[in-house]
Amino acid sequence: MTKNKYTVTAALPYANGPLHLGHIAGVYLPSDIFVRFLRMKKHDVLFVCGSDEHGAAITLRAKKEGVTPEEIVERYNTIIKDTFKNFDISFDIFHRTSSEIHHKTAQDFFKLLHDKGEFIKKTSEQYYDEEYNQFLADRYIKGTCPHCHNEDAYGDQCEKCGATLNPTDLINPKSTLSGNKPIMRSTFHWYLPMQNHEQWLTEWLKKGVLNDSIQHDASKWKNQVIGQCMSWIDSGLRPRAMTRDLNWGVKVPMKDGDGKVLYVWLDAPIGYISATKQWAKENQKDWKEYWTGDRKLIHFIGKDNIVFHAIIFPILLKSHGEFILPENVPAYEFLNLEGDKFSTSKNWAVWLHEYIERYPNKIDELKYVLTSIAPESKDSEFTWKEYQTRINNELADILGNFINRTLVLTQKYYQGKVPEIHDLNSLDEKVIDHIKEIRNKISSLIYSYKIREAQAEAINLARIGNKYLADMEPWKIVKTDPVRVQTIINIAIQITANLSIILQPFLPITAEKISGFLNFKKTVWEDAGKMNLISPGHETNKPTILFEKIEDQTVTIELEHLEASSN
Ligand code: 2FM
Ligand code: ZN
Repeated sequence: MTKNKYTVTAALPYANGPLHLGHIAGVYLPSDIFVRFLRMKKHDVLFVCGSDEHGAAITLRAKKEGVTPEEIVERYNTIIKDTFKNFDISFDIFHRTSSEIHHKTAQDFFKLLHDKGEFIKKTSEQYYDEEYNQFLADRYIKGTCPHCHNEDAYGDQCEKCGATLNPTDLINPKSTLSGNKPIMRSTFHWYLPMQNHEQWLTEWLKKGVLNDSIQHDASKWKNQVIGQCMSWIDSGLRPRAMTRDLNWGVKVPMKDGDGKVLYVWLDAPIGYISATKQWAKENQKDWKEYWTGDRKLIHFIGKDNIVFHAIIFPILLKSHGEFILPENVPAYEFLNLEGDKFSTSKNWAVWLHEYIERYPNKIDELKYVLTSIAPESKDSEFTWKEYQTRINNELADILGNFINRTLVLTQKYYQGKVPEIHDLNSLDEKVIDHIKEIRNKISSLIYSYKIREAQAEAINLARIGNKYLADMEPWKIVKTDPVRVQTIINIAIQITANLSIILQPFLPITAEKISGFLNFKKTVWEDAGKMNLISPGHETNKPTILFEKIEDQTVTIELEHLEASSN
């Protein structure tokens, strides 16, 4: 089996608010599952993330709260970092773009591109707020979207229809700082002439469509990613300013760069590189190895970040010349909440840190539900009712029930010692065949970013085990046919051992508990799929209940809480 090298990134969340379930379901959980799986396959993998601490997202939040941007990023960097840790997302590093190493990396990157002649310096008329003495790019300006007529579209994007915009595209523009109608004023910036990159970009993206990921190759791109990129390219790439007239951000490293910072979408993805540098420094590694050669660079993102990761950042990487381009950009659609969009301003959200505070022992339960409904190919929805149903009917009744029954019967009949296996009948063989198939099925699905289906397959093994015990009814024949019962329990134990392996990427805490019950631990993916994982005579422990059922009252309380705290 070839051992590949991977650098996996998860979109840097803006340090302007806490994380909600939508962020988790669409970026951080799938990337964590993918990485945990790659580690079990013994690939060489680095998983980086950090907080995105520049841009209007931060300064506008600071303005709203009447505090400094520094205060905002300090507060939310800590909250976000702790939340990831408590939710057991296994980044190798969670870094931040306000760090010195990041500023220097981003400036060096800019300077290198500048010196290679990759930018064009150009003066143009731009919107300006006279009251605030500020140019209005990106989120500093709002207006009506020319495509869908949403009146709240930003200068860089319409959140309703997803269109990428320029401030001058907006109908009825207004400053988000003062609410005033802006005037035009001239200013100069460094632009990336994206139109010069159209040809190679198109060819490169087309390769992504053609790649076949059926087996062990994480290269086939999602249709919606290619679709969005091609429609951007088809409508004509234009020069894009890589600097802004602002004072919060990475300073432009040019003599005439006073009062200017790097565009946040230039600086943020370079954050993946600076995070790698910081991690390499702390771990005595060479950071360049993670960005060059035959490494596979994978960016997990939400769909609103597609063009930045699949067009703009690749242009920057290619123009730089020393770095690899992404192997894939698995982008997720959006998760909605109880019939509506997640909304920070309306507080229509389930905040992850609050969930963890309320349910510190239900981390895997939430992971399970979020992966089951992950918005992999279309928007999906979280409801507390479904949370309850999935935990009760799938985790408790299928997985929990199977594990508990198997281990309780092993205690009851054999004082915890694994019994011998004897002659197999056709039903045993059918179950054994399933176990062998499931390992490869799950790995193909994960390599193709079908993580939702992969988890369903893992739970399917518990379903098969559950049905096997229910059909065999060992409790009815234990007196009359004790030899047969030994075989049945041995098989059930082997299924349990397999579950303790294949559940690791999805439900790490649960997998650890099952390993504890079995007194057995294997962490290499290829150990799964075997029927002799645990030998007869091996001593198992008494199990405890894996999943408690969710009461109707919990659903009611959560719905009331959501309604009461939203505005
Ligand atoms: O959309 C966002 O939340 C951005 N902060 C994502 C940045 S991803 C990367 F480029 F850093
Ligand atoms: Zn729109």
